[in-house]
Amino acid sequence: MGPQGLGITFVTLPLVIRVAAGGQWCYDSQDPKCGPSHWKELKATCGGSKQSPVNINRRRLQRDSGLGDIVFEGYDQAPPGKWKLVNNGHTVMLSLEGEPASEHIAISGGGLPGRYRALQLHFHWGSPAANGSEHTLDGHQLPMELHIVHINAKYRTLGEAKGHPSGLAVLGCFFQVSEAPNPNYNTIVSGLRNISHAGQSVDLASTFRLSTLLPRASRLSRYYRYQGSLTTPDCSEAVVWTVFEEPVDIGWAQLWAFMNTVYFPASGAVPQKMTNNYRPPQPLHSRKVFASRDATSSRGCPCHLLSPLLLLALLSPLSPSP
Ligand SMILES: *[C@@H]1O[C@H](CO)[C@@H](O)[C@H](O)[C@H]1NC(C)=O
Ligand SMILES: *[C@@H]1O[C@H](CO)[C@@H](O)[C@H](O)[C@H]1NC(C)=O
Ligand SMILES: [Zn+2]
Repeated sequence: MGPQGLGITFVTLPLVIRVAAGGQWCYDSQDPKCGPSHWKELKATCGGSKQSPVNINRRRLQRDSGLGDIVFEGYDQAPPGKWKLVNNGHTVMLSLEGEPASEHIAISGGGLPGRYRALQLHFHWGSPAANGSEHTLDGHQLPMELHIVHINAKYRTLGEAKGHPSGLAVLGCFFQVSEAPNPNYNTIVSGLRNISHAGQSVDLASTFRLSTLLPRASRLSRYYRYQGSLTTPDCSEAVVWTVFEEPVDIGWAQLWAFMNTVYFPASGAVPQKMTNNYRPPQPLHSRKVFASRDATSSRGCPCHLLSPLLLLALLSPLSPSP
């Protein structure tokens, strides 16, 4: 199982391979000596000035009315063929590439500089004791985060795309824990037991509509946008990030399955459960995080938008008297 599974991982995701071959990076939960604070020693890019994830401070957002609806292609059909779920040693990844139909799973619009084809999706999560999202909202982590990675259709390989600031587009979704399981995640969750060990993979029982993993359709126009990087080495600064405002529900037992079923690669005698596989927020430096046209205005003060209107209303001689 092991070698065969690894072989498949290598073919489907050159990104993971190159780093795995170096074999050096990990999360602090595995070994603080190779955790995120050391990644820049392996890859200088990880110490760059446009790194991800970041904290999304909702009082510091800049509204961009050009960030309208994202166009989702092929998200509403279960494609023919098989999807492979992989434990790549760092996360649980669903490979969306390789099937002829994947050509048709794509996003565009919403201020994205082009059309982007879906490559894979994967998750970052915490432990029974702590939330584990990568992006944080006003300084708080959420329990888990989904990343759907897309490649700019004008580039042929990941290697090529990683050389351009708009080479990749990643959709990020937060999760919140619900009492009831979310049936849309059943197929993925039931595949976890077949990929306990790093390098293992399993063909999922069926494909499904990717849209079912996302927040409600009516909330997809509410998102945050910024320019950043991959959140694992080599940390290429090639990602146009979209993080949805609305979290997706996940049942506690489903989240538990992520934290208790899959394992990191065995380094010592005892295999370690895959937990806390997130990178902490990186400095924003000179970057801005933009709020989409429909994003909820912060509780604080969307002053740049409202104050001119307010001023007009107050000054207007036509204001109706109370
Ligand atoms: C973890 O996430 C939940 C949302 O599901 C939130 O209510 C809670 O405050 C978070 N915990 C911490 C310690 O941030
Ligand atoms: C997944 O694991 C379960 C339980 O261990 C087993 O019954 C099932 O056949 C496995 N599925 C595949 C596709 O390997
Ligand atoms: Zn990720």
